[in-house]
Amino acid sequence: MFKTAITEMFGVKYPIICGAMMWLCKPPLCAAISNAGGMGNITAGNWETEADFRAAINETRKLTDKPFMVNITMLPSIRITADMHQMYIRVCAEEQVAGIEFSGMPVDRAAGMEGVEMLKKAGVRFFHKVGSVRHAVHAEKVGYDGIYAAGIEEGGHPLNDDVTTMILTPRIAESVKIPVVTVGGIANGRTMAAALTLGASGVMMASRFVATRECQVHDNIKQELIRRQEMDTTLFGQSIGLQGRGLMNKVLSEIHEIEARGGALEELIPLMSGQRIKQAWETGDTDVAPLMVGQSIGLIRDVPTCQELLDRMGSECVETLKETLGKVGLAGA
Ligand SMILES: Cc1cc2nc3c(=O)[nH]c(=O)nc-3n(C[C@H](O)[C@H](O)[C@H](O)COP(=O)(O)O)c2cc1C
Repeated sequence: MFKTAITEMFGVKYPIICGAMMWLCKPPLCAAISNAGGMGNITAGNWETEADFRAAINETRKLTDKPFMVNITMLPSIRITADMHQMYIRVCAEEQVAGIEFSGMPVDRAAGMEGVEMLKKAGVRFFHKVGSVRHAVHAEKVGYDGIYAAGIEEGGHPLNDDVTTMILTPRIAESVKIPVVTVGGIANGRTMAAALTLGASGVMMASRFVATRECQVHDNIKQELIRRQEMDTTLFGQSIGLQGRGLMNKVLSEIHEIEARGGALEELIPLMSGQRIKQAWETGDTDVAPLMVGQSIGLIRDVPTCQELLDRMGSECVETLKETLGKVGLAGA
């Protein structure tokens, strides 16, 4: 049904890719998305040793014979070191994974042009998640296969240029020749149609996948995402140079208060620790940690299976595009 640069590059049914989610993007969810015709994601930072990371790739391959992405996040982190970044890149090349989503530092800085060559030789397609035209242009020069254009609406760590998806997608699409995938604000077929219209060849989403049957978080979290709306997320972390977007809650109010009075990093770190976040997903306590979701939660209304979600998005996207042509008097054109 869909024929875009992304469906052609990976041989998938839908140009819908799951974005990295620390603690959540593990083999079962990844395989469910890939089996449904999109591209699932395993987020490398979930595994600290080479053996565990390799085992996760193999476990995913047992659950699906379809392609999936591996995310390598190279943002400032105490737990995930530069050596681990190098290991993830090497293992992805050795395992010949279908694709890599890099975020944070570009691969040429993390692993040099030898790293780029290693991935090219292994046939691994790699994309960078960027928030600005200049980073997209740099990625194209280095030899990346595509760009994830992430607007300020996105969950996780939007880049500080603070540009919305509506502007960022067409700006990047006109600035590079490699395929562009829209990230941020995508949760249904209508937003997917908008992204394709803006010049993207596909969409990436993450928050929407949290509210699926296969996502291994407590049901309270899924219900909270349905209950909360687009205005219920907030930015934080600017004072430490690592902007984040998460669900407005008790811990983010505390973080805002500390940042407003110029509190130190040592005060903030315990509130953002990985252990707290893991605890929140597992226990369903929505106030105990920053939950890194995007404004797209305003469009989440139910908890479908990944198959139901992707099939629905695919047909809604096509219907929306037809409806739009009809609306401007061009139906059947
Ligand atoms: C729970 C959660 C955890 C995330 N963790 C990461 C991460 O570890 N690395 C990363 O690059 N992006 C991370 N992101 C950002 C997503 O990959 C994606 O860019 C973003 O969520 C897209 O916006 P959306 O959630 O509105 O679809 C995370 C997002 C969510 C929702």
